[in-house]
Amino acid sequence: RTNLVIAIDGYSSCGKSTLAKALAKKLHFIYIDSGAMYRAVTLYFLRNNIDVNDHDKVIAALKDIHLNFHARDYQTHITLNDEEVSEEIRLMPVSEYVSAVSAIREVRHEMVKQQQRMGKSKNIVMDGRDIGTTVFPDAQLKIFMTADPNVRAERRFKELSAKGDPITLEEVFENLAHRDYQDTTRVESPLVRATDAIILDNTNLTEAQQLDFATEKIEPFL
Ligand code: C5P
Repeated sequence: RTNLVIAIDGYSSCGKSTLAKALAKKLHFIYIDSGAMYRAVTLYFLRNNIDVNDHDKVIAALKDIHLNFHARDYQTHITLNDEEVSEEIRLMPVSEYVSAVSAIREVRHEMVKQQQRMGKSKNIVMDGRDIGTTVFPDAQLKIFMTADPNVRAERRFKELSAKGDPITLEEVFENLAHRDYQDTTRVESPLVRATDAIILDNTNLTEAQQLDFATEKIEPFL
């Protein structure tokens, strides 16, 4: 491939999107939040009572779902059938259901297809769970992020509380553990480190240190 792809995978709330956004901004790459796509599909399923076990309904629903990213200041702005849903997809109902929806084979196939299209010719940073393994196995740089689960829960809790979400730290911890479990044990492209991915444990790293680390790794390709 002639365009550059940076794939960032890892557990929930490891700071993948923070690093991905910072990298995209620094390198003038396009940032794509693949998790937002699974979240938007989940929101559609919740709103329309699509049962994840109802195969025919799932397939039909996928045809009715149109997702679009609107690049603005390197934040995730996503629309679901032209409605801005960037805020709503972060709330608990979606977080609780998203791992079940993203375990569905047809859902994954459709998302991967769209993601590969987005990374066909432009320089991108994409974060998710299967970017280095399935979406872009030929990415020039793959980073697998991890951090202490307690630190992750605290970070996410602070983020949600600041937005006024009345959630408790325990609930956040449970949700992260639950999603990690489902994401790593599903049959269809489970969360696993690509053999050629570099591990980045950011438990004790600042955002600036993480950015330096990643920048150093991609520099030879620029
Ligand atoms: O990245 P984020 O935490 O927003 O992703 C939400 C959920 O979407 C994950 O817990 C996972 O179940 C699913 N996901 C996925 N594959 C991706 C990105 C996200 O299965 N590439």
